[in-house]
Amino acid sequence: MFPLQILREQPLIKFNQQLPMFNWHYPFNSEKDLNEDRLAPYLCPQKTTVRRRAVYIHIPFCETICNFCPFRHDLHRSDATIQRYLSALLDEIALKREFLGDVKVDAIFVGGGTPSLLSPQQIESLGETILRSFDLHGLQEFTFEVEVKSVSRDKLQAMHDIGVNRISFGAQTFSEKYRALFSLDATRSQITAAAEVLNSMFPYTNVDLLYGMAGQKLDELDDDVTAAMSLGTTTIDVYPINNLTAPRSMHSALTGAGLNALPEALRVQFRMHLERRFRELGYRPINGYGFSIAGDKCHDSADPVQHSPKFLYHDLVYGYEDDEIIGYGVSAISQMPGFNLYNFVSRQAYMSEVLTKRALPHQVFGPIAAPERGIVSFPFRGVLDKSRVAWERVPDETWFALEDALEAGLIADLEDRYVLTQVGWLFYVNLMYYFMPEVGKRRISNKIECERVSHACGDTDLTQLTRSSVTLLGGRRSF
Ligand SMILES: C[S@@+](CC[C@H](N)C(=O)[O-])C[C@H]1O[C@@H](n2cnc3c(N)ncnc32)[C@H](O)[C@@H]1O
Ligand code: SF4
Repeated sequence: MFPLQILREQPLIKFNQQLPMFNWHYPFNSEKDLNEDRLAPYLCPQKTTVRRRAVYIHIPFCETICNFCPFRHDLHRSDATIQRYLSALLDEIALKREFLGDVKVDAIFVGGGTPSLLSPQQIESLGETILRSFDLHGLQEFTFEVEVKSVSRDKLQAMHDIGVNRISFGAQTFSEKYRALFSLDATRSQITAAAEVLNSMFPYTNVDLLYGMAGQKLDELDDDVTAAMSLGTTTIDVYPINNLTAPRSMHSALTGAGLNALPEALRVQFRMHLERRFRELGYRPINGYGFSIAGDKCHDSADPVQHSPKFLYHDLVYGYEDDEIIGYGVSAISQMPGFNLYNFVSRQAYMSEVLTKRALPHQVFGPIAAPERGIVSFPFRGVLDKSRVAWERVPDETWFALEDALEAGLIADLEDRYVLTQVGWLFYVNLMYYFMPEVGKRRISNKIECERVSHACGDTDLTQLTRSSVTLLGGRRSF
């Protein structure tokens, strides 16, 4: 088991170690939970208890491949391939609708890969299908992920026309040294020009940055933060680079340049520095990764997160037991109350399942009860609404861990909710691990051990990343 302990006496460094893994979907499942009935989650009466729902759609193509990226992506080779994939995607939406009906959706996230590789016509047909297939009356957020090289005004107009109100793109770093090492080939002026157009067309925009890469210095991080702020997006997501899940090619490039991985303790210092720097420059956290300019709508000052602008999809992915994610596309993950569903990772298998067999392209695990889900992912959201947890079913280990974190000043009890304290924010990943029951901790510990020994160790639910997980580790989504 990863030997994580809270250090009560220490004022700031509250844990003996930093977990080297930065995000995951919870709850986990094992082979014994494999359910032969692919329809089980749709037929289960628990479906009626869903409080909030998000749709995730995965577009697995990229124009160029960044060597740090663990997400499910294929090099874009032909428009015909994308068109065929899109047909499968639209068919999957129709197929699932037969079982789901017109379900109410609060947030939609089209991620990848690079959804901006879709043509304007393809964006429109995806939009039409979405509009026909879900009840969108309560829709609050509709995000498209884009990559700056493939954005154009007509594509953005098509996104706008189908109701997209939030665009997210990756800058990752502005350092020419790291951009070359990561095979990032968009130019700085392409990034700036794209940000300008996006900000003028959409109410919410986000830029992704990475930090904590091998050999990074604090002043390099400061330069990246300053450059990201100058883009004027509504939020900035700053992901600790996930060395455990990053492909070997990234490690070879960095070690080839004489850059050594930062010790985990130093990465905590980077996180502290980031937090301080964003606050000094007038920003506040919106979740474990995201920051936005501090606004009037900062709500209750006791809340560690700002609730406007919000990243709702993130809050659902790292949500409560009754938050539902329905994933579409290759490798997409769905989390339905009591069930985890994994779409096939192989594009060929996914397409043949949908287009030829007209079958649901997933494996189902469950039923799995996880009343503690909202508590485990609370450090990622910053706030735990007590009324959303079935406390009588929460395992003792999670209760004890909450009490420990409270005594150590990592969380605060505000009657109707628990919130992370400022010190708690620094250790949000450790806290997620700390709140899990033994069986979950064992899972993460094995994964860390396994990745350390060999990068070839496969464990589907921790490595098949999509944003519907987010992306799991080290993030995207995380990281
Ligand atoms: C699916 S990707 C990006 C979407 C889009 N294709 C782009 O490149 O802008 C989402 C984000 O995950 C983050 N990410 C990718 N690989 C990562 C890693 N190894 N560790 C941490 N974050 C990572 C990056 O910041 C990236 O922008
Ligand atoms: S970061 Fe984005 S563009 Fe780069 S490989 Fe990953 S999904 Fe593709």
